[in-house]
Amino acid sequence: MTAHLERSGSAATTSGTTAPPSGCPAHSGARPLSGPGFQTDPARMYADMRREHGAVAPVLLEGGIPAWLVMGYRELRQLTSDPALFTRDSSGWNAWDDIPDDWPLLPMIGRGDTAMVYTEGEVHRKRSLTINNALEAVDPYELRDQAEKYADLLVDAFCGRGESDLVAEYAVLLPALVIARVFGFPDTMGPRLLRSLNEVVDGSRKALKGQKALRAGMMELLAAKRQVPGPDVASRMIVSTDSSRDEEIIQDLMVMFGAGHQSTADWIGNTLRLMLTDERFALSLSGGRHSVGRAMNEVLWVDTPTQNIAGRWATRDTVLGDQRINAGDLLLLGFAAANADPDVRPDRRASTEGNSAFLSFGHGSHRCPYPAQEIAEVIARTGVEVLLDRLPDLRLAVSPKALVWRPSPWMRGLSALPVEFSPAPGGVR
Ligand code: HEM
Repeated sequence: MTAHLERSGSAATTSGTTAPPSGCPAHSGARPLSGPGFQTDPARMYADMRREHGAVAPVLLEGGIPAWLVMGYRELRQLTSDPALFTRDSSGWNAWDDIPDDWPLLPMIGRGDTAMVYTEGEVHRKRSLTINNALEAVDPYELRDQAEKYADLLVDAFCGRGESDLVAEYAVLLPALVIARVFGFPDTMGPRLLRSLNEVVDGSRKALKGQKALRAGMMELLAAKRQVPGPDVASRMIVSTDSSRDEEIIQDLMVMFGAGHQSTADWIGNTLRLMLTDERFALSLSGGRHSVGRAMNEVLWVDTPTQNIAGRWATRDTVLGDQRINAGDLLLLGFAAANADPDVRPDRRASTEGNSAFLSFGHGSHRCPYPAQEIAEVIARTGVEVLLDRLPDLRLAVSPKALVWRPSPWMRGLSALPVEFSPAPGGVR
């Protein structure tokens, strides 16, 4: 390992007989962001790490690659507010020599990637503006109509059976279909894009293949929109630019698709899980629309879809929390852990109603663009509401404890959400 991550203060020891090499987090209590404990109950692991290390903890990514997980609410805001000290540009990472070409987490880090999310300063400001303008022009009423239409079609496909897996047959399909449409894709492209996206987002071995396929789809879209522009995000992004900027736009569309689809899918899935398993929501399932908003807000506090994001890279030696950070170290944005920081939520059982101070959409210049947040909210809320309208006696088909979370270091979402309900005829709305 060439990356140098050190704890400040006294040298840490391990229980082994060999003296630990100084500065290597594998020997200073660094935990892997994976494994059964992390998969089932990351909140407990974050709490343990906070007790051991404070607001910033050493962790290991796939292949033993070291990083810092920033878990303090204050420290996370600090990390995301100072791009001169903590940059989004990964080129200066001090672990690059250890990263194999087929490292599955590579798509989330961006080697040599020039997408807008990896830029800073004026370049970032300009590209961010292009994205904001293109997303801001999405009409929320039309978006709601589109989301309702796709939600109904998806429900039609399984409502007669009286049972379904709401992750595979609903949550993971709806945002991709709606976002693809908003971007300007024809409906027929939906399934192909979806497959590629899922491969990228979960950091599986197929991640690089998925990324290539996604890129091919975006290139096709752009070529089509250069020929015949339409009232869609891709056309708005290429307006008044010549084709020399196509590469930039392809990358930014890919980032938006990736950032938007899986997070919104998990927002839907995690909200449904909460409503189906927590008695505070059980009584209002059939008809209590106001409770959908409450559940969606609570999910952003306790099971936020983007639990961790990579990342920021220190541009010089510094200190964050109680840790000494070296130039080139990778710092992960621990949104889920920061939302549970006892300094902001001393009582974890206290209601989150009306409180939107969570960091789930990020903070600082790279936070999730406001129009993107609105798009996600319209799709997720419509998705949950349509489902509850159509299947009012929806209930979980397994015990809540049998639900399995996907083993991703980045996303928090279920592998499956098996439900039962009274069979209903399709196409009734
Ligand atoms: C539940 C849904 C969503 C969640 C939880 C979410 C969360 C986030 C977070 C935490 C960031 C900050 C990343 C960082 O600081 O490095 C971010 C950035 C971003 N999000 Fe979202 N997002 C969601 C939906 C969407 C949607 C629907 C879109 C687009 C259609 C989108 C587009 C973006 C873009 C372009 C950025 C990068 C901004 C930049 O680097 O300047 N997101 N998102």
